[in-house]
Amino acid sequence: MSLHLGDTVPNFNATTTAGEIDLYEYLGDSWGVLFSHPADYTPVCTTELGRTALLKEEFAKRNVKVLAVSVDPLDKHLGWINDINETQNCQVDFPIIADDNREVATLYDMIHPNASATATVRSLYIIGPDKKLKLYITYPASTGRNFFEVLRVIDSLQLTANNSVSTPENWKQGEDVIISPAISTEDAIKKFPKGVRVVKPYLRYTPQPDAATK
Ligand code: BEZ
Repeated sequence: MSLHLGDTVPNFNATTTAGEIDLYEYLGDSWGVLFSHPADYTPVCTTELGRTALLKEEFAKRNVKVLAVSVDPLDKHLGWINDINETQNCQVDFPIIADDNREVATLYDMIHPNASATATVRSLYIIGPDKKLKLYITYPASTGRNFFEVLRVIDSLQLTANNSVSTPENWKQGEDVIISPAISTEDAIKKFPKGVRVVKPYLRYTPQPDAATK
């Protein structure tokens, strides 16, 4: 199944390192990050899962629950977690799905046959509280993802979901944002009390809004 932005993501039940999980129940009203990695006991994956564990509080601050998946079995995941904790100085306590029957990998199109016939690639899905797909990225096995970038895009997704703004290239929390072209400059001046900076009629900035002004 191939998923597109805005689609409702499919639910599933899975065996994980934290017990049996129903995706929708696990996420509840939170945002979710579901990400695959190719295999246990591999170097890049070890660093990725370690970084995810180290960013636990950053994900929690944003009301995001994380969930990893690969096609290895549960006992292998459990053994590997010890190595991740030891080598990355972390405590992996988010669930890792044991997808040895490839159900989740198939449902989320995480196996790309030209990369590997059996292993998942590095796919990452950001799911909104409405269970809709907000963003996805796919990296090859050889390239580890930047989890600070994942946090950055979550900040943008959460901000733009609640305000009539977009975020420019490289935007980071606290920087100016772009006013939606659907709003006239006259209305923007009323809507964004922190100020409106007009560079071109279609390119207008305002300081990051504090709360929803949709
Ligand atoms: C890694 O995590 O280092 C890795 C996994 C599968 C293929 C290549 C690299």
